[in-house]
Formats: sequence, structure tokens, C-alpha cells
Amino acid sequence: MEQQLQTIREKALAQLAEAQDTAALEQLRVSVLGKKGELTGILRGMGKLPAEERPKMGQMVNETRAAIEEALEARAAVLREKEKEERLKREAIDVTMPVRPRSAGAPNPLYTVQEELVEIFVGMGYEVVEGPEVEYDHYNFELLNLPKNHPARDAQDTFYIDDNIVLRTHTSPVQARIMTTRKPPIRIVCPGRVYRADEADATHSPVFHQMEGLVIDEGVTMGDLKGTLDAFAARLFGEGVTTRFRPSFFPFTEPSAEVDLTCASCHGKGCRMCKGTGWIEVLGAGMVNPKVLDMCGIDSKRYTGFAFGMGLERIALLKYNIPNLRLMYENDLRFLAQFR
Ligand code: PHE
Repeated sequence: MEQQLQTIREKALAQLAEAQDTAALEQLRVSVLGKKGELTGILRGMGKLPAEERPKMGQMVNETRAAIEEALEARAAVLREKEKEERLKREAIDVTMPVRPRSAGAPNPLYTVQEELVEIFVGMGYEVVEGPEVEYDHYNFELLNLPKNHPARDAQDTFYIDDNIVLRTHTSPVQARIMTTRKPPIRIVCPGRVYRADEADATHSPVFHQMEGLVIDEGVTMGDLKGTLDAFAARLFGEGVTTRFRPSFFPFTEPSAEVDLTCASCHGKGCRMCKGTGWIEVLGAGMVNPKVLDMCGIDSKRYTGFAFGMGLERIALLKYNIPNLRLMYENDLRFLAQFR
């Protein structure tokens, strides 16, 4: 039996030294020390030994087991380290490898303009508000002093969903919504998409974008409107650009004005862009009609306000010298890439 133990030990140690990975080592452990292993077999056979030999034999078996276990653990540590190194080598990332080129998108100039406008007015303390594009006739027209059958309705070729619902023809219904739900002071801008049954051409599209502005408080004057729009013009197109007001008509403002900006191409000298006038029409504006204030539940004896609206496409065309509106809707990458 002693001889047997010696053989098991030598064989195990020899195999162990040869094991090339932790899996082989584990197999070896099971075959020697496992439940059905060789060493365990010897322990089972001890029952047949004379009683006085058992303690000595037991001790020898234990020593053998301890020696093999120790050698196994030592070898396992070496193999684990080796396997770890191999894995690290396999998983190494070559940080010097060239990257695959990824084409980044470019913002549509229309939205760049919208962001810029919003930023200018937020800088002046305005809040950004949005409203639905599918709108009640009530907000799009009625509350803005455009009752049914009012001739000025014809100026906005409206897409009707039914008798009471339209695709909003301007962003002004958002100011009606705000006036009916809030108390002054009110200072908001409302950018968004609007719809008119226009024939599409270089400067028209049935879907386009506007931004509305509305200020209501005690003592707001037309001078405030002029000052605000002058500051806006200079921020958008640069120092020296100012506004010119021409009398006009909107049912929801009184008085009303068409607002021109100094032509940024020729600085007012007159060029092809401004058709020689030195001015470019950009906004509609005016003092909120007291009738509109009253209809919306704001006391027109106490409060006054101004409102303005502008087309974003028009501003983008001017600002980026874009010859055709359609370019901004087609998302042709050759066009957009110029705005990266
Ligand atoms: N809503 C007008 C339009 O679409 C523009 C406007 C807004 C005019 C606010 C005056 C005041 O033409």
C-alpha cells in the first residue's frame, strides 16, 4: 500500500507538471483526489488493514493528499497567470489603428435660424411657447378679430379640416391661447410650422415656419415695439441694421405695420436683393388690438401690448443667401454639408 501511495504521488506530480491549462489540471485533480479518485480508493481500502496499521497508513494518505493539493495549487496559480496574460494579449486594443470615417450630419439652416431667433429673444427675457398645428378656427381666427366671413380671412388660404378646425395659417393662435390662460405681464415667442394653400415656388411653400412674439403689460408702447425690433435686427444681421415701419393692416393689431430691415447685402445702398430699395420686408407687427385683449379676457383699459410675426424661411434665405426655398426642405446632403 505504501508503494501504491508512492506511485500515485509521483505520477500525479509528473502529470501535474505537464498540464498546460487549468482545465487539464482540474481533470487531474478529479482523477486523483475526487470521490472516485485513486487516493480516495486507497482510503476506502484501509478498512481491510489490521487496526494497528491504520493510523500510520491514514497519516501517509493525508500527507500524500496534502502534497498533491499543494502542488496542484501552485501549478494552478502559474497556469491562471499564463491564461490571464494570453487573454489580455488577445483582447488588446490597438489605439493607434485609424478610425473608420463616419459622416456627421449638418443642421438644416432653417433650424439654425430658429435657434438663433429664439436665443436672441430669450436673451431679452422672453419665454418660448408652442401650440398645436391642427388648430381651432376659434384661436386661429375668431379670437384674433377675424370672425367668420371676414374678408381678411381670404388673405390666408386656409386648409380646413372641418368647419371649426384648420391647419393653423400663422403662429398667432398661440398668442390667443396664452392670453386666454395667463395674466400679464406676458412676454413670449412662439416658433412653429404653419400652413397655407400656396402654390410652391422659389419663395413659397404650403408648409413654412413662423415665429410670433407677444408682450403685454401696463404701459407697453409702439416705441417699445420699435426698440425691441431694432435690437433684434442688429443682433441678427449685425450693427447698423435697423427697422423701418410701414403702415399696414392686420385685424389683430391696431395700429399695424409691415416691418422692413436694412438690406444686409448692401447695407441700405440698394442692390438686387432689395430690388434697389435698401430695405427688405421681414415682419408683420403692431399693437395688440384692444378688441383682441378684451375677447381674450385681458383688461384693455389697464394693459397694452405689441405683437410681431416673421417667416423663418425668409430670414434663412436672406441670411445664408439661399436662392430657393425648396433647398431647405429636400435635405440634399450636398446642400446641407455647406452648413457644417
Ligand atoms: N400673423 C401675421 C401673419 O401671419 C403676422 C403678424 C403677427 C402680424 C403678429 C402682426 C402681429 O401674416
